[in-house]
Amino acid sequence: MNIPNYTLPDVLASNNGTAIKTSADWENKRRQEILELFAQHVQGKTPQKKIESRIVLRDKNTNALNGRATRKQVRIYFGGDDKHHFDLLIYLPNQSKKKVPVFLGLNFSGNQTVHSDPGIFISDRWVRYGKEPEYVNNVATNASRGIETDQWSVEKILSAGYGLVTMYYGDLQPDSSNSAGAGIAPLFYKPGQMTPESNEWGAIGVWAWALSRAMDFLEKEKAVDAKKVAVIGHSRLGKTALWAGAQDKRFAMVISNNSGEGGAAITRRKYGETSAVMNKSFPHWFSANYKKFDDKEDELPVDYHELIALIAPRPVYIASASEDQWADPTGEYLGGYHAGKVYALYSLKGLETENPPPANQPVGDGHIGYHMRQGIHDITPYDWDQYIRFADRFFK
Ligand code: GCU
Repeated sequence: MNIPNYTLPDVLASNNGTAIKTSADWENKRRQEILELFAQHVQGKTPQKKIESRIVLRDKNTNALNGRATRKQVRIYFGGDDKHHFDLLIYLPNQSKKKVPVFLGLNFSGNQTVHSDPGIFISDRWVRYGKEPEYVNNVATNASRGIETDQWSVEKILSAGYGLVTMYYGDLQPDSSNSAGAGIAPLFYKPGQMTPESNEWGAIGVWAWALSRAMDFLEKEKAVDAKKVAVIGHSRLGKTALWAGAQDKRFAMVISNNSGEGGAAITRRKYGETSAVMNKSFPHWFSANYKKFDDKEDELPVDYHELIALIAPRPVYIASASEDQWADPTGEYLGGYHAGKVYALYSLKGLETENPPPANQPVGDGHIGYHMRQGIHDITPYDWDQYIRFADRFFK
């Protein structure tokens, strides 16, 4: 595939052309400009309205996973009814006496998939992917317990002294093209409104909003060190983690696993999936405005190195997989590389060269980490080893 010639928008030139030279210029001016450009043209605006919420502890077991962990399951209701809610599954390592750092991430197929622990409640929500016997008519069965054990590597995370907090993304909005009237979003609509306005959020915005609501909860959890929450996501949920981390500075670290187009990858490269293809297959993910840039990447006022730059000066990790050309591993690396200019304003080190490393050779001993795992589009124990190693540098 040929990569077209392209010029990236200058992350360090403000909308009126003024050069951004210091971290103060960045924070007082440019950061907000870029955030607004993404909100206006790409992910859509996240409503700022606070809605009523209610927390219900559904389960607490201090002797979970053979005594290794404390498991909590919490349901958070929104909008004062029984219909709108998400379910957090929390595992905290019992060996730690202090507050623990945690990884927080949305899962694809229900909390019960992350571990075979029979105490996890099975989600009864609609699931986009999933065949029999684990799912029947898109609803989970008992057979779905633990089917994503490797993807979540719970024991590995706990052994390293971290907690894991996860929730099912379908609790917030079903991942289907006609879902804008379902889930949480309608709680924010004006009377009579059925779908978001063209510059309002899509499903990725809704999912990212929920990560911030989970953060609200974690700030009140005594056993969790809320100053050390790494938000993580794979693929479409990696796109979501980046957007959550860009908007909400309380996330101390952001990890994007194979997020590809609309995530870490430079869209102007038009390599693998393009925004036009993505917006056609998944029209509900981004704002309606984003479709105006289908096949017109060069006219988009931002590119994705700037999404990553919004995370500065907090550490960020980007991972690719060698056989995941659809997500453009080189484009993902370059997204991270070009964000480095903003980290440099803080005298922080980014990625050293414009050339991505070979497979299974993690790079980045500064604030931006990267690896390309040998293999397919997935999140594996190898990836978690790298995330834990990276997180240890900042959180331990
Ligand atoms: C599709 C989609 C990607 C997305 C991926 C995933 O492949 O085209 O943009 O990242 O699904 O979420 O697994």
